Amino acid sequence: MPHIYAEGRPDHFETVGRVDEWADGQIKEVKVHKKPMTVARIGDKFFAVNSICPHMGGPLSCGKMENGKIHCPWHGWAFDVETGHSPNGHHLDCYEIKVENGEVKIGWVKKI
Ligand code: FES
Repeated sequence: MPHIYAEGRPDHFETVGRVDEWADGQIKEVKVHKKPMTVARIGDKFFAVNSICPHMGGPLSCGKMENGKIHCPWHGWAFDVETGHSPNGHHLDCYEIKVENGEVKIGWVKKI
């Protein structure tokens, strides 16, 4: 279901970079819709999550990625980049993301 602010906008996605700007397993911070997000690449798949850790606001884009999880650099909480779930029960917002013509694009809408 489209987000209320996305309705009537055929392309509500914003380009944040080119595919080749991410190596496999790399995470990087981008600004989209004036919001810091962390974009992760796993193989040919891309994921977009909120960059601000829900624990105490740590910068997740400065963390490391292992086994499909971003580890916060401040206290080590881990978040699955696809679902946003952490084993400790906390959650990180995930956003629509797609690749089109070699460009990585993020939408308005939270996936989960
Ligand atoms: S601020 Fe991220 S784990 Fe504490």
